[in-house]
Amino acid sequence: MVLTESQKNFFVAVAANSRSGGWQALLREFKKRYKSDWLHYGLARDLGQPFQNPSAKIPLAVRPLRDEDIPRMLGMDAIQLSDRGPYVRMHRLNFIEAGIGACFVGVTENDEPCFMQWLIPARDNTKIQKYFRGIFPILEPDEALLEYAFTPERWQGQGIMPAAMAQISEKARDFGARSVITFVDSSNVPALRGCRKAGYVPCLARIDRWRLFRRQFVFQELAYDQPWGTTILGQSLRLAGTTGNSTSAQTPWTSTASAGV
Ligand SMILES: CC(C)(COP(=O)(O)OP(=O)(O)OC[C@H]1O[C@@H](n2cnc3c(N)ncnc32)[C@H](O)[C@@H]1OP(=O)(O)O)[C@@H](O)C(=O)NCCC(=O)NCCS
Repeated sequence: MVLTESQKNFFVAVAANSRSGGWQALLREFKKRYKSDWLHYGLARDLGQPFQNPSAKIPLAVRPLRDEDIPRMLGMDAIQLSDRGPYVRMHRLNFIEAGIGACFVGVTENDEPCFMQWLIPARDNTKIQKYFRGIFPILEPDEALLEYAFTPERWQGQGIMPAAMAQISEKARDFGARSVITFVDSSNVPALRGCRKAGYVPCLARIDRWRLFRRQFVFQELAYDQPWGTTILGQSLRLAGTTGNSTSAQTPWTSTASAGV
């Protein structure tokens, strides 16, 4: 039997996970996909608005990903590996294979990569829809998508994500985009905080209804100026019909098999 690259990446991730001794991430993912209603936020940055990009605690520059960065960023043999770490790396390795958009890295003064994220233009809409099976909206011609942010564990907590993400977002101007969107799991507080610092505001919710490993989802628009503190990081926003602030469903539920996000 010949394994695909993504199947190989999965087995390598499970092996790395077993070495690091944590099965919580796999168990959480299993429970989520067995039965849950899971909320993701869509966040946008309007590149036309003046914004002071934040700095990280270390000097940081941004450049395109090079082949030699891949093992340094995504090697499963990293000394520090969180319980989600192998799967986070696996999704990014798979996405490199897919060849969608452009991956940028944040680098230290010594050109050591410490952050990665993909910037994807609207001309890749067809590929985005196919790869992610519809869980991102179709981009307007002047929109771009940012996906798969990752700071390896040894670099986390130094403000690298917001500083690098803000710089990568501005590269979307090079291909004519005026706004950039990104999606974040509502339980991923570090990523939500990073997005806020990088100039993003919540504008959309996506609710994934998982039942027996199949997903249906629906998008709901949010007011563009949702106050961050009370509705998002304060976790007071809930699914439509349970609490205020979100509009009623704009589109019917859409079904999809699981995509790797
Ligand atoms: C999300 C991620 C990119 C953040 O990268 P980072 O470079 O460590 O970002 P920061 O140093 O700015 O930390 C982000 C914020 O979360 C906070 N934070 C860090 N770890 C945290 C934790 N476990 N719980 C709560 N807050 C935490 C930081 O203090 C910071 O908040 P602040 O700006 O208010 O001080 C990184 O944690 C990561 O790669 N996670 C795995 C992949 C992932 O989840 N990607 C996001 C997909 S959308």
